[in-house]
Amino acid sequence: MNAERIRIGLLGCGTVGGGLVRLVTQNRDRIARRSGVDLEIARILVRNPTRRRVEIDHAKITTRPGEVLDAGCDVVVEVIGGVDTAGHLVRRAIASGASVVTANKALLAAWGSELAARAAERGVRLEFEASVCGAVPVVRALRESLASDTIHRLSGVLNGTSNFILTLMEEEAMSFDEALARAQALGFAEADPSLDVDGHDAMQKLMILASLAFDAEPGRVIVEGIRDVGRNDVSRATDRGEVVRHVATAEITGGVLTLTAAPTTLPRSHPLASVRLENNAVVVEAAAAGTLFFAGKGAGALPTASAVLADVVQIARKIARDRAAPKAS
Ligand code: HSE
Repeated sequence: MNAERIRIGLLGCGTVGGGLVRLVTQNRDRIARRSGVDLEIARILVRNPTRRRVEIDHAKITTRPGEVLDAGCDVVVEVIGGVDTAGHLVRRAIASGASVVTANKALLAAWGSELAARAAERGVRLEFEASVCGAVPVVRALRESLASDTIHRLSGVLNGTSNFILTLMEEEAMSFDEALARAQALGFAEADPSLDVDGHDAMQKLMILASLAFDAEPGRVIVEGIRDVGRNDVSRATDRGEVVRHVATAEITGGVLTLTAAPTTLPRSHPLASVRLENNAVVVEAAAAGTLFFAGKGAGALPTASAVLADVVQIARKIARDRAAPKAS
């Protein structure tokens, strides 16, 4: 059977976009065999067209958004980050009838409900697995597997950069600045790393998870980053048999959905205490399913791109099924 050709427009070709191109190039044949879809990255929007990019056909590169959005792509992948430009391009993509996959937590935290409503109205999909916890499929678990359950509480290590810094401060007695520089060099940190170390990135991700897990708007939001955690705090915790982690928690307290993201001292026996380096984890406490633990790489090119690709394949399979279905007359 011939695989159905699905055309992808890529907005952004930095860490995650570059990772996606690599994964599609490496796995295109296997995806076609397993899933019946032939993924073609048709156009790629970049900021700097002169940057050398291995594995990319330079004829596909453009600096004009219209050349991606008006190219008749089936799926548009947004990995440029930020809120305003990304939001504008995603709205245009949806209006054009393309499904959208985004890894952009800031965009979703700001405009997620509006974009979801637009996508539903236009009859296209908006998927965002990569926006929270990189490769860890927690968005799908909350949206699908746990959709009919009642979630009591959700807590997690949601920022890979903060966790990487805390781990190196603890295990290698590294300074905050040195550890942050290493996280930046490895491509874990945001372009503006204060989003990571001041707790905002974790809170954006928590807002996305909470919107999937609870039928309530947040009534109270408390954000604190790891900037004021010193090596002394970390070593004192170690001496007591504890660890410092940046923990994000969503729960209903006193009838109000409360979201907190803050440095927290945990006993070593706590499930989140064992989460090291750029890994993320989420503990979900559900009425019927009980307590579930999700963990894996939360940042980095390939882990994040793998979550983007999973969404693209899921949408592509649906498009292929729809094309194959006999049209109602
Ligand atoms: N800067 C983010 C982090 C990247 O460190 O978790 C993944 O969202």
